[in-house]
Amino acid sequence: MSTVLITGANRGLGLGLTRKALALGHRVLATARDPDKASDLQALAGSSAGKLSLHRLDLGDFAAIDGIAASLAGTPIDVLLSNGAVTWARANPFGETDYESWAEHFRVNSMAPMRLAERFADHVAASQRKTMFFIASRVGPTPAFGHIESRSSKSAQTQVVYQCALALRPRGIICACAHPGWVATRATGNTGALTADESAGLLWGVIDRLTLADTGKFFEPDGSTLPIVTQQTAAKPYGMTQPASGS
Ligand SMILES: NC(=O)c1ccc[n+]([C@@H]2O[C@H](COP(=O)([O-])OP(=O)(O)OC[C@H]3O[C@@H](n4cnc5c(N)ncnc54)[C@H](OP(=O)(O)O)[C@@H]3O)[C@@H](O)[C@H]2O)c1
Repeated sequence: MSTVLITGANRGLGLGLTRKALALGHRVLATARDPDKASDLQALAGSSAGKLSLHRLDLGDFAAIDGIAASLAGTPIDVLLSNGAVTWARANPFGETDYESWAEHFRVNSMAPMRLAERFADHVAASQRKTMFFIASRVGPTPAFGHIESRSSKSAQTQVVYQCALALRPRGIICACAHPGWVATRATGNTGALTADESAGLLWGVIDRLTLADTGKFFEPDGSTLPIVTQQTAAKPYGMTQPASGS
């Protein structure tokens, strides 16, 4: 039995990932901004024979991330599953960008995953599976104007995953991310090609096949890989006379 921590577990894909984790026999620490209103999670907890516990966490509150990590000190976490994200904002036309909303997207979608990785590295390092898995989005790099808050913050998140992979590989920790597919949740107005449970099943298949050789990778739900678009791969970037180290 593995111990799994899932953020944004109260609805949508997070709830599907939680249901699937329980079906696989794992112990789940499920976080939600308001556990008192998380009726689906409460019902699951009631029938989980003590395998599901609910924890309050607003990802925009970094002190709260520090606090939950401290309260779980000494608990090995096999799979840290970063799922929660700001998923909806009005599509503003060029010239009317909402910079406050954009900052909030970056805080929750790009910076909070980093904070989670930093504060939970010891818990994950102490586990058997040593895995951090981040729900990303291939919508990030889509070349069409609109939803710049979501697209840019989810693009940045993949670079966060890559950076964490570099930092944590020496500790044997796998850091990888995946696009979940087009999933019918509140984020998509409940339209999509997959249900949350179907996507969760595919994503758990990806997670279960991960090895340290996969660290830093960006997966599709079927296990194929996508490029991390901000990763510079040229051995000798323009203007440099020596091969780049760490670029
Ligand atoms: N659905 C898709 O087609 C699709 C495509 C690409 C990527 N994704 C990614 O999949 C993940 C799950 O999205 P979803 O489709 O399930 O969307 P969703 O139904 O809108 O769920 C979003 C989840 O994130 C939580 N959340 C939002 N802001 C938060 C905050 N500040 N702190 C903590 N939790 C917060 C929400 O909690 P509240 O209930 O409290 O708001 C909710 O649990 C996201 O990372 C999203 O970017 C989804």
